This record gives sequence, structure tokens and C-alpha cells, in this order.
Amino acid sequence: MRLVFIGDIVGSVGRRALKEIMPKLKRQYPNAVFIANGENAAAGRGITAVLAKEIFELGVHGLTMGNHTWDNKDIFEWIDDEPRIVRPANFPEGNPGKGHMIVKAMGHELAVINLQGRTFLPAIDDPFRKVDDILEQLKGKYKYIMVDFHAEATSEKIAMGWHLDGRVSLVVGTHTHVQTNDERILPQGTAYLTDAGMTGPRDGILGMERGAVLHKFKTQLPVRFVVDEGKYHFHAVTVDLDAATGKAKSIAKIRYIEDEFVME
Ligand SMILES: [Fe+2]
Ligand SMILES: [Fe+2]
Repeated sequence: MRLVFIGDIVGSVGRRALKEIMPKLKRQYPNAVFIANGENAAAGRGITAVLAKEIFELGVHGLTMGNHTWDNKDIFEWIDDEPRIVRPANFPEGNPGKGHMIVKAMGHELAVINLQGRTFLPAIDDPFRKVDDILEQLKGKYKYIMVDFHAEATSEKIAMGWHLDGRVSLVVGTHTHVQTNDERILPQGTAYLTDAGMTGPRDGILGMERGAVLHKFKTQLPVRFVVDEGKYHFHAVTVDLDAATGKAKSIAKIRYIEDEFVME
């Protein structure tokens, strides 16, 4: 089973990147299941029904979220009725939406779990115990399981990788918006990458217009950040999963930078 996971889609530039790159990825991996993080799709802050529809129509089979899940209130209207989206499972009990889902696509069933870290992020429930509970529920039912661990600290993400080694197919981090260079298959067969990176503006600062961010760093005065325009970069990761065991056979990063790479 071929799985492609696309890092945080940021604003209109990120959506344009998706529109340009998806046909190329579909040609390269015609049978892949595509999952993407959509927490920044609406001008960097959350996602709307219209944008989710646009992303699904481009061939993404499921969406994960993160700390920006509730930034755009539109999501409260539909998250409970949309089976193809998850928000972090360790959000407080009773929050709208769900923390894991089964994506049925390309003849496969893929369990997708979304978790959020607690280091330099709000103090929510323990993601390690939460994922144990979910895996207990899924036990014996699903071969292919992926975790999007939306977290700031590299150490917390690596810890999650080891916590889940041999129990899921892929642990991939999101949230930092910078793709890391540490993809590997852990000893018990779980593919791991600390951060997938983001799909959005190339020349801003983590997707935000850089002038305002620089101003903030230099003056410490209150500044309103806006999502950047211009060229894109596209970051994702792909894994090949064993049909018998669900374990990873290979993992590779995907990276396209607008106007820097010649794309066939
Ligand atoms: Fe993000
Ligand atoms: Fe985030």
C-alpha cells in the first residue's frame, strides 16, 4: 500500500501548490492513499467547508488538523458530519469532531490518528496514553495505521516514534512547517519522520509574511501576522507498506520548490 502524507497546507499559496503538484503525484503513485494536514488552509487559520471540499476534489482522501483547528468558526458547522477529517484526539473530552478515522480509499482501509504535543503548546490530555487507548480500540481490525503527531518539540516527536514503533505503519510530525531530514524505518517496522514540512508560501516565515514577523522579533511590539503570498514550496512524505503486516518497507521525503526544481 502506497501512502502519501502532505504537510500543513497554508493559505491560498498552499492550495495552489496542491493543485499544481497533485496531478504529478497521482501520475507517480496512481494507487496511493493521500492524507494532508489542513489546519492552516484558510489564510493560515483553520479550514472551511469550501476549502475542505476543494482539497478533497484535488484527490486528498483525508485531512488531519492541529492547534489551529478551531481558528475558523466555519468548522463547527460540519466537523461532526464529515467522516474524512480528524482533529487531535487528545483535545478535551467532548470537543466537536473526532481524533481518529478510517479512510477507505483505493481499495484500502487506513486508520488515521491525529495527536497534539504538549511541549510549548497548550496543556491538553496526554497524547501517549491517548494513542494507547485508540490502538486498543483498533486492535486486530486495521493493518494500516498512521499517526500525525502535531507537535513543536523534536524530542516529543521522537519519543512518540519510539512509543509506537511496531504498533503503527507511520508516525509523521507536523506543526513546525519545516521538513526534517531524519526519515527512517524504526527497528520494529514503523516509518518515522519528525516533520513533514509545509505546503505553502516559500519566502515568508513559516508561511507568514516575513516583514511583520521580523518586526515582531526586532521590536517585541504587538503585530498582526498575515499569511504570505508569492511562490510556494510543497512538502510531503511517502511510505510503501507491506500488505501482509502493514509495516513500512520504505520511506521517502517529497519536496518541490516553485521555480527551483524542474518538474517533469
Ligand atoms: Fe501548521
Ligand atoms: Fe500547528
